[in-house]
Amino acid sequence: MAVDVLLGLQWGDEGKGKVVDFLAPGYDVVARFQGGPNAGHTLVFGGRKYVLHTIPSGIFRDNIINLIGNGVVIDPITFAKEIDMLRQAGVPYSERLRLARKAHLILPSHRYLDAATEAAKGKARIGSTLKGIGPTYMDKTGRNGLRVGDITSAGFEEKYQSLKSKHLTLLKLYPEIDFNLEQEEARWMESLDVMRNIVMVDGEYYINELLEQDKNVLAEGAQGSMLDIDFGTYPFVTSSNTITAGVCTGLGIAPSRVAEVIGITKAYCTRVGSGPFPTEQDNETGEFLRREGGEFGATTGRPRRCGWLDLPQLRYTAMLNGVTQLAVTKIDVLNNVEQILAATHYRYDGQETHQLPYDVDATPIEPVFRQFPGWKQSLAGIDRYENLPPAAADYLRFIESELNIPIAMASTGPERESLIVRR
Ligand code: GDP
Ligand code: IMO
Ligand code: MG
Repeated sequence: MAVDVLLGLQWGDEGKGKVVDFLAPGYDVVARFQGGPNAGHTLVFGGRKYVLHTIPSGIFRDNIINLIGNGVVIDPITFAKEIDMLRQAGVPYSERLRLARKAHLILPSHRYLDAATEAAKGKARIGSTLKGIGPTYMDKTGRNGLRVGDITSAGFEEKYQSLKSKHLTLLKLYPEIDFNLEQEEARWMESLDVMRNIVMVDGEYYINELLEQDKNVLAEGAQGSMLDIDFGTYPFVTSSNTITAGVCTGLGIAPSRVAEVIGITKAYCTRVGSGPFPTEQDNETGEFLRREGGEFGATTGRPRRCGWLDLPQLRYTAMLNGVTQLAVTKIDVLNNVEQILAATHYRYDGQETHQLPYDVDATPIEPVFRQFPGWKQSLAGIDRYENLPPAAADYLRFIESELNIPIAMASTGPERESLIVRR
């Protein structure tokens, strides 16, 4: 059968985890295809909150396989902590989880390199989560990496020592970085035992066999399209392809297998870390959105920068991803706003345009906003799209018409149940 994709159209944290958890029962497999523990995907159900970093968001559902694909980078320590959280929650993770042997491993020394290179950037720092993502993908493309499959091979120790010593040589360039490698290494080695107890698969064969058996796959994106290594606001991006194209390389499936692409966006916009953000409201409005939306990072706890919805930005990522349906989240965060703004186009270099400039950071962009009256009421309990307040329906209709893509889902709260699926 087919692979549907759900991915973020902004700078991450659009609510991917919540919506994947909701949709998972309609699929046989949920698969992560890129990124690593820089991601933090929040699920809220049964009065509890769970944050996943590496493990796909279908893990709490019965009878679903959750595959960590080859395109993901895994920190065994974070992974072991997530497994522990699942064990405590009584989730039968062993039967539900599969690890692709070709996924790369984040070493403790990758994290130190991340911290060292980021600190050396000074003011130009990216605002990385410092989880070792960049250095690990560099070793992958530099053909030095360690992979999940290596941890069961006889030559593993030697490969590990060789990569570690390369890192220690590099770290001498950054003497100000202080670290306790021995302690972290011991934790890391222990955590590998947790990974060895999870079923490992040749992910590309595994997923294609399931597709041949008519199984349905939901590919779960991490980060957002504006953080894509090729098309994001470079260099303020992550180190993987976060867009639909990444699904093929990150799982080993052909483009012709991809069916629906669900693009997810907040009803406004956030970004965590440095880099350009044309519609940012670095003022009371931004503070209001941060407060109402609880906009603090699920991985690092950092306050997220907040601003209004940016239609040129969404057009761009809808184009890159081939989005066929939209999911709009956090609509409830706007419940008490008098006037909602959304940028319809940009002004820069003396022109009005829908296009993002080559260097978004170096170009002073003036977003041109349109105003919408707020609905000034709670959305709690609304379970049909037709029952949304007229002002909310108008705002959503505007998004659909600007992007020319139907809204299939509207999320009105963090809980699993607060999701309106349009009939
Ligand atoms: P992800 O990385 O895309 O999975 O998103 P995060 O989990 O990092 O951030 C989304 C945050 O918004 C989490 O705290 C969610 O619990 C919360 N959330 C998701 N959908 C909604 C919604 O519709 N309304 C509100 N108020 N919160 C939501
Ligand atoms: P989810 O999957 C939001 C941001 C970081 C930083 C930049 C590079 O939860 O949406 P990295 O650690 O990859 O070197 O950081 O990317 N970033 C995210 N922002 N959500 C995420 O994931 C992110 N993952 C990375 O803040 O600006
Ligand atoms: Mg997140």
